[in-house]
Amino acid sequence: MRASKRKPAFKIAVLGMGHVGLPTALGLAELGWEVIGADDDAQKVKLLEESKATFYEPDMQPLLTKHLGHKFRVTGDVGKAVADATVLFVCVGTPQGQSGKADLSQVEGVARTVAAHLNGYKLIVEKSTVPAITAQWIKRTVIRHAHIARGNGSGAGGNGFESVPLFDVASNPEFLQEGKAIENFFHPDRIVIGVDSERARELLEAVYRPLECPIVVTTPTTAELIKHAANAFLSTKISFINMVADICEAVGADVESVARGIGLDPRIGTQFLSAGIGFGGYCFPKDLRAFLLLGEEHGADTSLLREVERINLSRIELFMAKVRKALWVVSGKSIAVLGLAFKPRTDDIREAPSLKVIDCLLREGASVRLYDPKAMANTRRELPAQPGRVTYCQSAYEAAEGAHAVLVLTEWDEFRKLDLKKLRRALAVPVMVDGRNLYRPDQVHKAGLEYISMGRPGTDPVVRPISPARNAERRRMPAVAAGS
Ligand code: UDX
Repeated sequence: MRASKRKPAFKIAVLGMGHVGLPTALGLAELGWEVIGADDDAQKVKLLEESKATFYEPDMQPLLTKHLGHKFRVTGDVGKAVADATVLFVCVGTPQGQSGKADLSQVEGVARTVAAHLNGYKLIVEKSTVPAITAQWIKRTVIRHAHIARGNGSGAGGNGFESVPLFDVASNPEFLQEGKAIENFFHPDRIVIGVDSERARELLEAVYRPLECPIVVTTPTTAELIKHAANAFLSTKISFINMVADICEAVGADVESVARGIGLDPRIGTQFLSAGIGFGGYCFPKDLRAFLLLGEEHGADTSLLREVERINLSRIELFMAKVRKALWVVSGKSIAVLGLAFKPRTDDIREAPSLKVIDCLLREGASVRLYDPKAMANTRRELPAQPGRVTYCQSAYEAAEGAHAVLVLTEWDEFRKLDLKKLRRALAVPVMVDGRNLYRPDQVHKAGLEYISMGRPGTDPVVRPISPARNAERRRMPAVAAGS
């Protein structure tokens, strides 16, 4: 962090206290800003007022404890937060709507609230992931509703700003990974600022001045696109390595070595090349879909992204094929499941691959014994315990008790450190199917377990080699000109 110059005097409101808003608000408070966190969920506000973080995120609770009542206060009155602050970070949800496109009703709701409380210059900053041109819609909505609030009709005509206090809309997308949100806030790779006025640019640069990293200044529409493109690219990397894993399995190669071998090329990079049961979480699946629909709406060829999505969806069936192959008969078996969260270091189970696997197991007549270091409470709410069918356990070893196989679905560090011999003694049948390649095969074999993982030698492939005839039929590609 850079030594901060004297801070300009303005307050910041963060609207929406979810997985983006709360870490952002606390990060800004730690940078020295006076921050109002607002949310219309009364229960959430009550818990925060009692200094209780509403979800698990490493290093967040200490910041809440430190800043609550000093640099950070929280309110259920979103309008008052808007009235009291100058810079307004919009961090409300943009869930997937019925059509697959982002449902922007919460963003529109915020724009209307801002319009009703426009008591001076405001900088409205989109942080939530939104499709390109949302900033323009926010601007239009604020003008329209500010006029209505002032009894001036729709405000059509002119630039619409007459009789409405000045405001700007900027895009400053978040790149916070769950489980690392606080770390990402203080050590960003880059900060993207999409603005269309000098005033907005200066304000946002002032907000982030203490952080040292490249700043990309662009227009709001380009900034919006950067966020979607970043998530789509990372999703593509994951589906790519998953496809490679299938080929590795079919020919007896090792996907871990392939990932390292290609990833050390800086043009490719080693991150997001872990093969497994696919990506989940609140962002990738919905952002990928929203981005490809946006592209299609504008006539772009997004078939690449459709394949990325299709490969990801097929990972669950591929994993289940491994489970069936390992167990022969799934019905009537007791299966230990290690890992419920969509990734480690979070209690978030939204779009978690684990839940899809569990659903398949239950539908096929197995019973499950579940354990996760952090996501048990959230999972219990979605899937209550059912005697003899769904059992929640206190540890990985307890989950393994009497089970006919153990499945690894989230790569928690705690699982890496398990005593595999002890795990093996707890199991009725020593079979492990690892959807995250958490262990070295020799390590698991030494403990006396059969081991099935993803895209590694020794794994009996579930991906069938395609016969040359079918392959040629599938290809239908134009011949590549010699020398090209
Ligand atoms: C993502 C983006 O990374 C972040 O920048 C954005 O702001 C929000 O969305 P997050 O959803 O927290 O963050 O998780 P991330 O770490 O990106 O992982 C997403 C999913 O991909 C997880 O299910 C993870 O298990 C999976 N994944 C990730 C892989 O399967 N393989 C990998 O190599 C990396």
